[in-house]
Amino acid sequence: MMAGNELHLKTRPIPGGATLFTTLLIATFVSLSVAQLDVSQVEVDALLAIKRGFNSLSVLASWNDSGVGVCSSWVGVRCLNGTVFSLGLPGKGLGGFLAEEIGNLTGLRKISLHDNAIGGSVPWSLGALPALRGLALFSNQLTGSIPQNLGNSSSLQQLDLKDNLLTGPIPIGLALPPRMNLIDLSGNRLWGGFPYDWIQSSSLESVNLARNFLSGTLPDQWNAINSSALRTLDVSDNYFSGSIPPTLGVRSNLTTFRARNNQLSGNIPDELVQLNQLKVLDLANNSLTGDVPSSLYTLPSITYFNVERNSLQGPIPPSLGAATLTTLHLSSNNLSGSVPEQIGGLSNLISLNISNNSFSGSLPRGIGNLTLLQYLLLANNSFEGDVPEEVGNLTSLRALDMSRNNFSGPLPMSLLQLTKLTSFNVSYNNLSGAIPPFPQAFDDSAFLGNPGFCGVSPFPLCPDFTAPSPSLSPANGTRGLIPVSSKGHRLSTVAIVFIALGAALALLLLLCLCFFVVVRRSDDKKGSAPMGFSSKGMESSMDSEEMVGKLVHFDGPLAFSADHLLCATAEVLGKSAYGTVYKATLEDGNIIAVKRLREGIVKGQKEFESEVGTLGKMRHPNLLALRAYYWGPKDEKLLVFDYMSCGSLAAFLHARGPETPLTWETRMKVTMGAAKGLGYLHESQNIIHGNLSATNILLDARMNAKISDYGLSRLMTPQAMSGLMATAGTLGYRAPELAKTKKPTRKSDVYSFGIVLLELLTGKAPVEQSSSDSGMDLAEWVSSVVKEEWTSEVFDVEIIKGASPHQEEEMMNCLQLALVCVNTSATSRPEMEDVIRQLEEIRPDLRSSPESELTSGPDTKR
Ligand SMILES: *[C@@H]1O[C@H](CO)[C@@H](O)[C@H](O)[C@H]1NC(C)=O
Ligand SMILES: *[C@@H]1O[C@H](CO)[C@@H](O)[C@H](O)[C@H]1NC(C)=O
Ligand SMILES: *[C@@H]1O[C@H](CO)[C@@H](O)[C@H](O)[C@H]1NC(C)=O
Ligand SMILES: *[C@@H]1O[C@H](CO)[C@@H](O)[C@H](O)[C@H]1NC(C)=O
Ligand SMILES: *[C@@H]1O[C@H](CO)[C@@H](O)[C@H](O)[C@H]1NC(C)=O
Repeated sequence: MMAGNELHLKTRPIPGGATLFTTLLIATFVSLSVAQLDVSQVEVDALLAIKRGFNSLSVLASWNDSGVGVCSSWVGVRCLNGTVFSLGLPGKGLGGFLAEEIGNLTGLRKISLHDNAIGGSVPWSLGALPALRGLALFSNQLTGSIPQNLGNSSSLQQLDLKDNLLTGPIPIGLALPPRMNLIDLSGNRLWGGFPYDWIQSSSLESVNLARNFLSGTLPDQWNAINSSALRTLDVSDNYFSGSIPPTLGVRSNLTTFRARNNQLSGNIPDELVQLNQLKVLDLANNSLTGDVPSSLYTLPSITYFNVERNSLQGPIPPSLGAATLTTLHLSSNNLSGSVPEQIGGLSNLISLNISNNSFSGSLPRGIGNLTLLQYLLLANNSFEGDVPEEVGNLTSLRALDMSRNNFSGPLPMSLLQLTKLTSFNVSYNNLSGAIPPFPQAFDDSAFLGNPGFCGVSPFPLCPDFTAPSPSLSPANGTRGLIPVSSKGHRLSTVAIVFIALGAALALLLLLCLCFFVVVRRSDDKKGSAPMGFSSKGMESSMDSEEMVGKLVHFDGPLAFSADHLLCATAEVLGKSAYGTVYKATLEDGNIIAVKRLREGIVKGQKEFESEVGTLGKMRHPNLLALRAYYWGPKDEKLLVFDYMSCGSLAAFLHARGPETPLTWETRMKVTMGAAKGLGYLHESQNIIHGNLSATNILLDARMNAKISDYGLSRLMTPQAMSGLMATAGTLGYRAPELAKTKKPTRKSDVYSFGIVLLELLTGKAPVEQSSSDSGMDLAEWVSSVVKEEWTSEVFDVEIIKGASPHQEEEMMNCLQLALVCVNTSATSRPEMEDVIRQLEEIRPDLRSSPESELTSGPDTKR
């Protein structure tokens, strides 16, 4: 860099209050040396004024008072053609205020100072910046009102001032700049009305005014212009009144409309059913009346539908059938009628809340088809009849509230299959019979108010099931008869249920569980048979040697026998399309991961053994090594893998606490590892993964990435594979062409890899993104932000905070690479080879893996 220049300028202090004399001196001096500054003196002065305003000297230490190195070494400053074009200091702990002198940086296109503690008002001079495209000042402590002249900066595209302390009305004209596409003023203290002139904008895509004190009616001239880009409109948490404008229905690009927590009244207009791209509709907590237009439930793209806490009436229409719905919240209205059987067609439903209405009739058995359902809230209606056995099929369920209805009969034992249930309430119904022995130990208040229940105190004792019980009707004879009369009894009941329900319940126990009951030499076991998973064939196989099954080891560090394997302590780690994975601790303390393959999906034994033999030989530092397989006497199939102590990337990335950082360095390492593992599969093994996601990229103790679940499709029957393809839980990672072709390719793997990379860069999970605000998937969202040259906004704040310019460059390059990988056209995506090469260009030091992988076996050559 310009060392001479630095020397030259060293002696020149720029004091705060310079005398006329020194100012003149400096001016002459500068005119001599101006050619050696990166940018004009005016810009240097402006930047230094900004620095003084922020009073955060350590962060801006590189902003040298000498004015040297603005473009090359000043943190957060980027130049183009000798002028400052971007100022980006998000999350740097800046305080103070933003100096008006920022208006002298006339080449500025982007200002990104969000997530700081900047106070004072929004500088009026910003409105005079001729090239400003993006202004991101969100999450600061800005006060005062929004400068009216911001609408004069004709290049402005994105204005994000959310979560500040801004007051006053929203000035007219903010949406005038012809390419303005995002305005977010949410989370301030703005009052006054909705800015009526915004509906005239043909460029605005996203408007967020939520969480302010805005009032008055919403404009109803949305048909004033023909073409509109509006996709997101959020006016939630304000004081808007009047009705929902029917003309909103003509804004057919709209994907998200949120107006919860206002005072809107009148009917939900029929016109809204024209919004055939609408994904999110949130009208909760208003004063809406009348029927819900029945076609709203069947909008082709709708995923989130929330009209709870209004005064709506009428039934749920039987045409209900938008399989896209994930959330349906109708609670606290006056809705009535029965719930149509067709509800079982909402196969993506995750949350159904229809409590506090007047629904009646019985609960349709089709509800059991909703296998993704996590929340089923039916409280305070007039449902009657049995609790259908099929509710036990809702194995994802976390909360089930049926309280304050008229359900009768016993609770079905199938409810014991709901191992994820943490909240349960059936109080105040007309239920009877024994309370099932839930391992979760729900509070007594969850069962109160049912005159017929029996069980442990405070409920009356159940009649002993072995004794004939004349008072019980024969129809009840097969369920609800397990006695629950004492704590001791409760345990033995658990044992009975084990045998009856097999695997489902056993997963909960961390006791010494065998994978299957195999008692090879019963004399060894001192006569105590271990408890087991599979009830099948246990009695008959006691003595026969050959019933132990076949255990085949591949190269690896651990040696164990079938006995050791089967009697390891097991804990469920997770489930995938292929089966359930357990963490198993062997007697000698070594830990392995065991995958129990689902029944009925695996090829015959001969074929299986030849395929699994190939998989067992495959060794690469970034592939999870298959160490052994076991084929049991009753055709149970177990695969044994190395255990990865840091779990999956998905869990690590999204479920860790703030005290567990995931630095950019580590993310790069994981990216490279995953790329190499996948590249090896593609190039050296000719294997397509077909199901790559952050869930099956595992991390060892040193944060090395290991791809799992590869090649398993070879073990499956073709029929099973076509079934799995249709249901596999890779939503969000699946390349768009797979919806049609159903046949994974290298290029669809590359797509999945691109999504994983985006996940690492943005810190956002792909599904989280699609079900929330923007209604876009992760790839769409990132590309839309990048298209607007607003790239640095997509990165995870955790990695952008304190990142060096060099690291930011790397992130930028990785982002570009990820976007190529997720190109909607498969042919435009690179091969994994190219991806690896590009990653190596971005970070040459990742070229060779620094750690030698002793545990990965000898076959690590590439
Ligand atoms: C600022 O510039 C002066 C003179 O060129 C130099 O001595 C000093 O080390 C610089 N400070 C920083 C933080 O770069
Ligand atoms: C339950 O049914 C009884 C008898 O049909 C009725 O009187 C009562 O109002 C119902 N309760 C509820 C909450 O619907
Ligand atoms: C649903 O539950 C019923 C009764 O409990 C059972 O017969 C049926 O096989 C289950 N269906 C599925 C898909 O699990
Ligand atoms: C409660 O259920 C029993 C049958 O289990 C029925 O005879 C009785 O009428 C029900 N009571 C109410 C209030 O619905
Ligand atoms: C169950 O619901 C009843 C009635 O709404 C309530 O009083 C009770 O606290 C609830 N119990 C639990 C465990 O949620």
